[in-house]
Amino acid sequence: MDGLPKVELHLHLEGAAPPAFIAGLAKEKHLDIAGVFDERGNYRYKDFWDFLKVYEAATSALQSPRDYQRLVLAVLEESAKSGVVYCETFVSPDFCGGRDVGAWKEYLHAMQEAADEAERDLGVTLRGIITCIRHFGPEKARETARCAAETAGSWIVGFGIAGDEKIGVPKDFRWSFDCAREAGLRLTAHAGEWGGPESVRDAVHDLGVERIGHGVRAIEDLALVDELAETGIVLEVCPGSNVTLGIYKTFRDHPIAELDRRGVKVTISTDDPPFFHTTMAREYDELHKAFDWDEGQFRRIARQSLDAAFCDADTKARIGKLLEA
Ligand code: HPA
Ligand code: ZN
Repeated sequence: MDGLPKVELHLHLEGAAPPAFIAGLAKEKHLDIAGVFDERGNYRYKDFWDFLKVYEAATSALQSPRDYQRLVLAVLEESAKSGVVYCETFVSPDFCGGRDVGAWKEYLHAMQEAADEAERDLGVTLRGIITCIRHFGPEKARETARCAAETAGSWIVGFGIAGDEKIGVPKDFRWSFDCAREAGLRLTAHAGEWGGPESVRDAVHDLGVERIGHGVRAIEDLALVDELAETGIVLEVCPGSNVTLGIYKTFRDHPIAELDRRGVKVTISTDDPPFFHTTMAREYDELHKAFDWDEGQFRRIARQSLDAAFCDADTKARIGKLLEA
């Protein structure tokens, strides 16, 4: 399945940083973040909550627009190796200039330059979704939403929320989502990974999102599954992430195939690939092994993913041709 053209909608930019890249930056800056890595140089964490801490510690090595420019190139090189032709990545003004609009614009400019270069040289198109971070609280989310509203356009195409799903409730963030929507941004929210089906329902009803990050625990409430299918809400499913973090024991236990059979629009992503020891190519291989999904199934899901992408129609038409290859 390596050669199949792929569309990825759920990728945290810092979480996609190769550990050697972060280690190299830390060395250049004489930062001691050794605790982030294990003896083999992989990221080390105990569980999801520890992962969030390690994520932020690793991110502390990224300190300038230039660092983010290099990061985007490093990440897209990996995407290209897996056959990804279109990718949407979560970017956070929290980590890029501390939610200051002027600083954020400089970071964004640097990332876009790298994305242009990668589109030319690697054939991967990238767009950004600004995410607020749930455990940083609603007040900081409002500042993030202002950054998003100021930079909404053809490259920043969406707004979302990541972080610790167990803190607060979606409606705490309603102001931020309304602000982003009014600026023309499309909306997604992490839910139904650590929270149950009610967290998916709340994100859909209280924030008005059209996509859900993960959302897989909707399977525990079949009335909700039917609602998602009928309303066409799209799930950004990250099976390898869920298996690595222990939400499901194996790929065969993962509900992606059942959700798909029940008519929910599922897509396939990696979340934070080096943290979860995965790549888009590996997700495809594991799904093929677990559910005997064939090329036709993967092509249908890639097309479904592109339909759910937040980019403009011209970009979709161009990528659509690549998916037919
Ligand atoms: N889930 C939630 N929040 C995150 C993640 C994730 O995988 N990565 C970075 N922030
Ligand atoms: Zn995620």
